[in-house]
Amino acid sequence: MSPDRQTGAKRVAILISGSGSNMVALADSMSGDHPARPVLVLSNRPGAGGLARAEALGIATAAVDHRAFEGDRARFEAALGEVLAAAEPDVICLAGFMRILTPAFTRAWAGRVLNIHPSLLPKYPGLHSHARALEAGDAEAGCTVHEVTEALDGGPILGQARVPVLPGDTPETLAARVLVEEHRLYPAVLRRFVTGDRTPVLFG
Ligand code: GRF
Repeated sequence: MSPDRQTGAKRVAILISGSGSNMVALADSMSGDHPARPVLVLSNRPGAGGLARAEALGIATAAVDHRAFEGDRARFEAALGEVLAAAEPDVICLAGFMRILTPAFTRAWAGRVLNIHPSLLPKYPGLHSHARALEAGDAEAGCTVHEVTEALDGGPILGQARVPVLPGDTPETLAARVLVEEHRLYPAVLRRFVTGDRTPVLFG
């Protein structure tokens, strides 16, 4: 029986597509008296840098290459679902996972999937959120952790962190400032969520 089954810790699967810095922040936070443990890091990109980082942390990894399914989302998600089901996660964290999940998938895992998005939702769902905040002349930006539902970036908000937009900011400099807050916010929200507490975490 796996350690967390003995301890009763909640099992967390983390889905990534890229470097995995949020994955590392989540994994590092799940230690000591934390009520959860990471049991799987899964990517839709076999070469994602975050997979090697997860292995270095001793977390099981897997990849389901979405390109092998030639745009057939249902078949891709069926394969993803099989790998996930084998890991028996209580909670799934999307951390820089860049595939849009279908309503069928979000319904199947309803109430157990979180995502982090680099804007102050409901502002700027989707892509290029930092550039759009700068174009709009916003004085502040930030990130949001929300529950994943059928509405893209539209599920219940579980946490937000705000940062100032500074003179001369570019999408890159703003993204770097927001990413620091992402690494604080996501672990804080996860820690509450795995205990059933959905009170929003608010930073800044
Ligand atoms: C983060 O900014 C996250 O908000 C967005 O994609 C980026 C992923 O970064 N969805 P990483 O892969 O966690 O480093």
